Amino acid sequence: MLELDFHPTGRHFLQIPGPSPVPDRILRAMSLPTIDHRGPEFGALGRKVLADIQRIFQTRHPVIIYPASGTGAWEAALANVLSPGDTVLMYETGHFASLWQRLATRLGLKTEFLALPGAEHGVPASWRRGVQADLIEARLKADTQHAIKAVCVVHNETSTGVTSNIAAVRRAIDAAKHPALLMVDSISGLASAEYRHDAWGVDVTVSGSQKGLMLPPGMSFNALSPKAIEASRTAKLPKAFWAWDEIIEMNKSGYWPYTPNTNLLYGLSEACDMLLDERHGGLEGTFARHQRWGEGVRAAVRAWGLEIQCADASVYSPVLTGVIMPEGVDADAVRKLIHERFDCSLGTGLGKVKGRMFRIGHLGDCNDLTLMGALAGCEMGLKLAGVRLAGSGVQAAMDFFAGHPAPQSLQRAA
Ligand SMILES: Cc1ncc(COP(=O)(O)O)c(C=O)c1O
Repeated sequence: MLELDFHPTGRHFLQIPGPSPVPDRILRAMSLPTIDHRGPEFGALGRKVLADIQRIFQTRHPVIIYPASGTGAWEAALANVLSPGDTVLMYETGHFASLWQRLATRLGLKTEFLALPGAEHGVPASWRRGVQADLIEARLKADTQHAIKAVCVVHNETSTGVTSNIAAVRRAIDAAKHPALLMVDSISGLASAEYRHDAWGVDVTVSGSQKGLMLPPGMSFNALSPKAIEASRTAKLPKAFWAWDEIIEMNKSGYWPYTPNTNLLYGLSEACDMLLDERHGGLEGTFARHQRWGEGVRAAVRAWGLEIQCADASVYSPVLTGVIMPEGVDADAVRKLIHERFDCSLGTGLGKVKGRMFRIGHLGDCNDLTLMGALAGCEMGLKLAGVRLAGSGVQAAMDFFAGHPAPQSLQRAA
């Protein structure tokens, strides 16, 4: 028999930037008996979660819920609005932007991949800063024939700990007077970092369950705009399971055209109740909590004398922090040691930064002391691995958290 709970005592420190630790409240909600997905109770559940999730995306328009990982929702977003051979303008912020670009190519789209040239500390410059909206504006202005059908960017680049200014990308498209759709991956940003689908003029937002929504993996989303729905009526890429039209129609009564993942929907309902709870500041309170945790973790990294991967303070991720290792130190060896000695999982460096950095997640079921535990694990592990530290990051983070109390109303929420 496979043993799933193999940690001898205490809680495993799951400090990767997703899947994130799931609050007990959500685990309990998901343990309820599975019900008839065509029955009356299910319709009420469906209508509730569909309304709640619109509030999380901050949209008045339909949000599609798929029983799939985020990669499925990436494909769905492109397949619904584009036709074979269409050109899409994408931007290389890191590994996930690169994977979305590869997926678009495999679907038969032509992709242009913008990036900043050069490298800093052995890390591509484009992987240390957010999307440069002026590069997008210049490229769109040059596209006088409007061959580019969509601009695709990642809001919170999980491989680097860098966010992008989505409102600035919208302004760039408008300044170029270009009709391209704006498509955004907020798989790891939603429900942790500020995100406003309607106000920022996004046409399709892609997201997933296993990050800020604090759910297990297995559910993903497309939030739509009227312009995206209009485009889906004439788009020619093949789609059947992913097609929005039948789902939107059945969602009106709270049902789906296929069997939805019932128990994850119980979890989603509970997660939305937690995230939207005004006693804990609602969504704004959620964003503020993650900002503060990010600041505490960055205080630790600075005190260690290590380099934060995000090189632009205006776009630090509130979801995770990327830590660059000194030249000659294998970040994965450090991670392995921390895992073996202190039962703490940290995010690996992905793609072009493999071995150069590791990632500390500050999302999901988390609080000041969870983070202090994780930072203590990091500090002990770094020292054991022979990394020379300038000072104590643990002390710096303790000073930060003690000196910057969360507003009373935010203290008791996940
Ligand atoms: C920003 C981003 N985009 C896309 C994905 C892919 O999602 P999934 O692994 O759920 O398919 C991830 C997963 O970590 C991600 O962080």
